[in-house]
Amino acid sequence: MSSRLSGLHRQSIQHRIDALAASGLLSDQDAERLRQGRQVLLPAAADRLVENVIGTLALPFAIAPNFVVNGRDCLIPMVIEEPSVVAALSNAGRIAREGGGFEVRCDEYLVTGQIHLTDLDNASAAREQLLSARDALIQQANQVHPSLIARGGGVTDLDVRLLSLADGRELVTVHVFMNSVDAMGANLVNTVCESLAPDIVARVGGSVAMRILSNLSDRSLFTASVTIPLSALAMTDFAAEAVRDRIVLASDVAAADPYRAATHNKGIMNGIDGVALATGNDWRAIEAGAHAYAGLGDGYQPLATWSVGDDGALVGTLTVPLRVGTVGGTVTANPGASLGLRIAGVDGAKALGEIMAAVGLAQNFAALRALATHGIQEGHMRMHGRQHARDDSVSVIDQMPGRAAAKVILLGEHAAVYGHPVVALPIPDAVGAEVSASEGPLRVLIPDWQIDVTGLGAPAGDLLAPIFKAFDVEPTGLTITVRSRVPRAMGVGSSAALAVAVTRAMAAHLGQTVDNETVNRIAFDCECVAHGSPSGVDNTLATYAEPLFVQNDGELRMEPLSLEAPPPVVVAFSGQMGSTREQVDAVRARRELSPAAYDALFEQMGALSSSAVPRLREGDYAGLGALMNVCHGLLTAIEVSTPELESMVQIARSAGAIGAKLTGGGGGGSIVALCPDPVDDVVAAFAESGYKTLVLAGDS
Ligand code: MEV
Repeated sequence: MSSRLSGLHRQSIQHRIDALAASGLLSDQDAERLRQGRQVLLPAAADRLVENVIGTLALPFAIAPNFVVNGRDCLIPMVIEEPSVVAALSNAGRIAREGGGFEVRCDEYLVTGQIHLTDLDNASAAREQLLSARDALIQQANQVHPSLIARGGGVTDLDVRLLSLADGRELVTVHVFMNSVDAMGANLVNTVCESLAPDIVARVGGSVAMRILSNLSDRSLFTASVTIPLSALAMTDFAAEAVRDRIVLASDVAAADPYRAATHNKGIMNGIDGVALATGNDWRAIEAGAHAYAGLGDGYQPLATWSVGDDGALVGTLTVPLRVGTVGGTVTANPGASLGLRIAGVDGAKALGEIMAAVGLAQNFAALRALATHGIQEGHMRMHGRQHARDDSVSVIDQMPGRAAAKVILLGEHAAVYGHPVVALPIPDAVGAEVSASEGPLRVLIPDWQIDVTGLGAPAGDLLAPIFKAFDVEPTGLTITVRSRVPRAMGVGSSAALAVAVTRAMAAHLGQTVDNETVNRIAFDCECVAHGSPSGVDNTLATYAEPLFVQNDGELRMEPLSLEAPPPVVVAFSGQMGSTREQVDAVRARRELSPAAYDALFEQMGALSSSAVPRLREGDYAGLGALMNVCHGLLTAIEVSTPELESMVQIARSAGAIGAKLTGGGGGGSIVALCPDPVDDVVAAFAESGYKTLVLAGDS
């Protein structure tokens, strides 16, 4: 199983999950969990973690691929809100694997507990006395958690330090070192300290100031190292040696200047904290330990340093204390944390610490590489651009020679397969196409769908084959450029719109005119390639761009609705593609189990479509909205809705839509909402939840 996965950042969330599952590094169950959003901590579960819960706050959960740690390919689960960190990490993982990846060592993994004693008559004597009772004290400590001993853990060592307070009073601090196996160990060691303290006082007198673990976990040190061959270091505008030497210089600067070391270490913690959050670990404890360790020697120091190694390679080393756990309340109570641990593929706390140390070093490498060359803003601005990318497709489509409508089904999907009527609206000029002469084989370019294919092949080229046949044109020496303002596989008829737009563009390229009937027939042939046995609704809407009432009960009848004005409708796209064919097949299988119940539902859906027609014509939107809401209930009854679609329907209704339902095949895809009040509130509510929308009419 290889963690080397390229192009994840260009894929949709759904495709990313599919790619991770296909790599074998994400189980099918976890892939499904993610698709359904079941990794999210719900308020009821959060209420069991802390006091006075009133909700939860979510953060992005991402994956950095490409990592090799101690010879094992692994995925890094990252929970972080800062742009560029995940991209930088993935990149660093890819570069580091050219030198064999990261090696991480951890020689001992002990949690430290402290018992502070003051008011001693003779602190030095007390210290000596406690040191000589060391074995007895360890034995006593190990009676506190017999189950920990059974799991192979327990207190293994004890030390006594002599300190003095600012006012000169003496302080004796007993350190208890415990192997807490896969638990972070805070609670375990705190209980031991609390139980040991009275015995210690009984032996040496004085009074107990505090009994608690120390987060300066220098008995749990992880050292990560990486060797990056020169060949992996060259960048545009920078030779490999220059990149290496600038990274080494950046490391030297951090060693000389604590102001820089703080930022250097912050970058390291970007990575470590991301993994800590994704696996339910106490990142505050880790932060405290890391910075305390950085300040332990002669001034505050960088946790990672870089130098030139054999063959001129760049060698990095990071040493950081890490107390983490893979068992315990916060991990098991949070479904996201358990998922993070499974994604990291670790079999215990030490293995998790190893990954974190590697990630810290990788993050530092990525930051220094950027800082020492092009600067850090370039990557940040790219991400910023992604967040604020303007959709220019509308104006571009207007200029294209072939244009076609997509569609949105207002009522009747699924029932249509059983001969009942459908009401569908066009999404005018949804797709535009242009055919131009070019060198070499056919190229199909659809940037909005991340498609760039050569020749007549999947996913887009093959469904265009009937167009070449109809025009008697060889699929070579041409480039077909398509722009779309609707996503594909979202239940809005994108494939039919593609076929119609390309047919018209091809005619324009050849200087021919084609009537709508011919366009519609060619597009229907394309739809047969795309969907098997299409109803003909999509290509008809794509061609004529008119609201339609359609029924196919053996014979296809279509009635244009000739509305004075289209209804004010918002379409919102979920994060998940839906396969209409799969949904239709699944509904058929369920219908076979209960034909009478299903047929009654289909009958009702058909009746809703019929009664929608006069309401649409009269502009009775309140009545139409009620029909849509009932239809959604029926679609939920036949199990084609998903938790995400349910939540989107609720978003629309809460923001003022008077009717909202899934549209198309379901199982992902889109919802349609009727919004006679200004649609802005509904559009804004979807934008706030991260969903893209398309407004068909109304004031937007
Ligand atoms: C930003 O979150 C982290 C960096 O500032 C780290 C560094 O400067 O090394 C880029």
